[in-house]
Amino acid sequence: MTAASRQNKLVLEGLSKRYGAFTALEPTSLSVDDGEFLTLLGPSGSGKTTLLQMISGLTEPSEGKLWVDGEDWTFRPVNQRGMGLVFQHYALFPHMTVAENVAFPLQMRKLPQAELRSRVDETLKKVQLDAFAHRFPKELSGGQQQRVALARCFVFRPRLILMDEPLGALDKALRENMQMEIRRLHKEYGTTVVYVTHDQEEALVMSDRICVMNHAKVEQLGAPHRIYADPETLFAATFIGHSNVLTGKRLSMDDRTAVIRTPSGDFRGAYTARDRGTEKVALIVRPEQMRLGPPPDGEYDGVTGRLNDLVYVGADTRLLVSLPDSTEIMLRHDPATGAMPAIGDQVAVHWAKSAARIVS
Ligand SMILES: Nc1ncnc2c1ncn2[C@@H]1O[C@H](COP(=O)(O)OP(=O)(O)OP(=O)(O)O)[C@@H](O)[C@H]1O
Ligand SMILES: [Mg+2]
Repeated sequence: MTAASRQNKLVLEGLSKRYGAFTALEPTSLSVDDGEFLTLLGPSGSGKTTLLQMISGLTEPSEGKLWVDGEDWTFRPVNQRGMGLVFQHYALFPHMTVAENVAFPLQMRKLPQAELRSRVDETLKKVQLDAFAHRFPKELSGGQQQRVALARCFVFRPRLILMDEPLGALDKALRENMQMEIRRLHKEYGTTVVYVTHDQEEALVMSDRICVMNHAKVEQLGAPHRIYADPETLFAATFIGHSNVLTGKRLSMDDRTAVIRTPSGDFRGAYTARDRGTEKVALIVRPEQMRLGPPPDGEYDGVTGRLNDLVYVGADTRLLVSLPDSTEIMLRHDPATGAMPAIGDQVAVHWAKSAARIVS
């Protein structure tokens, strides 16, 4: 840890959490830039809330350090952190109106009355709730209540906002709407946000970077397109977007690529920085990198299998092909680019070696 890296908005240095013999979070180090939107993404029980709660001060770490704006905040009390918190169950004050709920954090900070009013008005407008200022929470829909919770968080312009599945209780349409709203508020105020979700689409839509978590560990941290294009682990490859996975044994490796032997053939792919050189590996090829037909030249690899199913999804069709060892692969086919095979046909499928990744 250098002095320079402590200049980031938020730095975690080997932060971990144990409950007795159980590890809820392995020692974790990462940093978040000022104004960045970082999403913790992972399945239930992977340690997302644990990590977020340690940043908030609601949970004390077992080991490690937490730096905010270059200051050691590891043991700073939660009420001295001044972070904005939004959780799945938006705990609004039921006896206060919308405007009073939103004004609350400003009253705590003893803002002059005039400024308080104008800030509350401005923030309610931003979440399109200005017409609801005098209603009580129970007179609002779930989505409206969650917008009040967002307004109450953004209104005091916290330097850091932590959100734990804030849209989990909303239906799909409202959730997508609110995703855009949060993204817009984040951009407008330039706030740093650490956001928790187990919904990969939500993470892809909202984040500057995604921290993929599994089994109390960070699997990969990077920009959404980087994780999609260059997954470092089998878990990251299958958790974000669809991956075709061919498993087998490593035959050889050079300084950048490796060859894997699978029941369907030997294939080449780029391995990742995380590669530990294990024998058991998997080849990852995204569906949109696969095409029908035999490999045109030595730059491509391919397989043949039986077309099991065709699924029409708007512009293109998804083909499900089962290989002789019963591994199923999925590819997209644009009917305009060639004849559509029939279910039961033997089909050849190819992909560029440069599009394949090998993960261990
Ligand atoms: N107070 C506690 N005592 C013991 N174990 C705990 C405690 N809090 C959390 N855990 C365990 O730590 C692990 C990580 O929990 P955490 O709440 O961080 O998961 P999560 O990724 O947020 O999951 P979800 O998506 O379900 O919210 C879980 O196995 C959980 O049971
Ligand atoms: Mg959680």
